[in-house]
Amino acid sequence: MHLIEARDLCYSYRNDIAALRDVNFIAGRKSRIAVIGANGAGKSTLFKHFNGILKPTSGDVLIRGEPITRKNIREVRKFVGIVFQNPDDQIFSPTVEQDVAFGPTNLGLDENTVGHRVDEALRLVGIEDLRERVPHHLSGGEKKRVAIAGVIAMEPQVMVMDEPTAGLDPQGVSDLISFVNTLPEKYGITVLLSTHHLDIVPEMADFIYVMDRGSIVGKGTVNEIFMQDDLLRRSRLEVPALPRLIRSLRAHGIDIPLGFTYEEAERAFLAAFREKP
Ligand SMILES: Nc1ncnc2c1ncn2[C@@H]1O[C@H](COP(=O)(O)OP(=O)(O)OP(=O)(O)O)[C@@H](O)[C@H]1O
Ligand SMILES: [Mg+2]
Repeated sequence: MHLIEARDLCYSYRNDIAALRDVNFIAGRKSRIAVIGANGAGKSTLFKHFNGILKPTSGDVLIRGEPITRKNIREVRKFVGIVFQNPDDQIFSPTVEQDVAFGPTNLGLDENTVGHRVDEALRLVGIEDLRERVPHHLSGGEKKRVAIAGVIAMEPQVMVMDEPTAGLDPQGVSDLISFVNTLPEKYGITVLLSTHHLDIVPEMADFIYVMDRGSIVGKGTVNEIFMQDDLLRRSRLEVPALPRLIRSLRAHGIDIPLGFTYEEAERAFLAAFREKP
């Protein structure tokens, strides 16, 4: 049984344009999965099916093997936490602290536990100093962090993040990467994220689904997908600069290993260019 599964999932908004076409998708325990695709590919529409915000037009979405029903939707939302693309869709309390406390309070947890969870979430996301602020008056990146903290405080088993790095500054992006990467090993959490910024993908995911115009057009490991220039170009995406450069050097006959994350690329360059003693 998979944590999340979509089977032949189709979805049309009211305008009848097919936003999802026969999507088959699987997320297992402790996995780190990226859904990549250009604007309008269907990433947000797919994610909104994973906690029952949208219902399939046809096909199935199964959470731990069960379809989402009115009866289990509370359980599903406890299990699958979603950080929306636009934090304004998610933040509504008068202070940051109250906002982050909203989810755990709704789960019926006692005040003490809620307090602990809020402290921990604010600390993990690095926004303890924003605690008393009015969310509405925060910058875009600050709001994004509040939205992430709010989902962390729910302690979901699956954390779905729609464009998590959009609007974050470089420090914010690298903080997010290090913190999200602790989730699968430390807490057994499965991470799903969507993005069209492919640089972050090798840093944050092991497995990739490629979407284009509502369909899954490719899936595989980072290595497998990043080798398919044509697929990415057809999907209006591009292999990031570092792996592209390494592949170009290899094509020019320079003996350099492949590398996808910054660290792998650094190692590859050192191995290739460091003067051998
Ligand atoms: N509320 C809506 N009503 C009608 N059509 C919609 C609605 N939301 C999205 N769509 C359409 O559905 C398709 C998929 O949109 P979706 O937001 O899922 O794409 P996305 O991959 O998340 O794009 P982005 O990278 O811009 O966030 C697009 O053609 C979009 O115009
Ligand atoms: Mg989107």
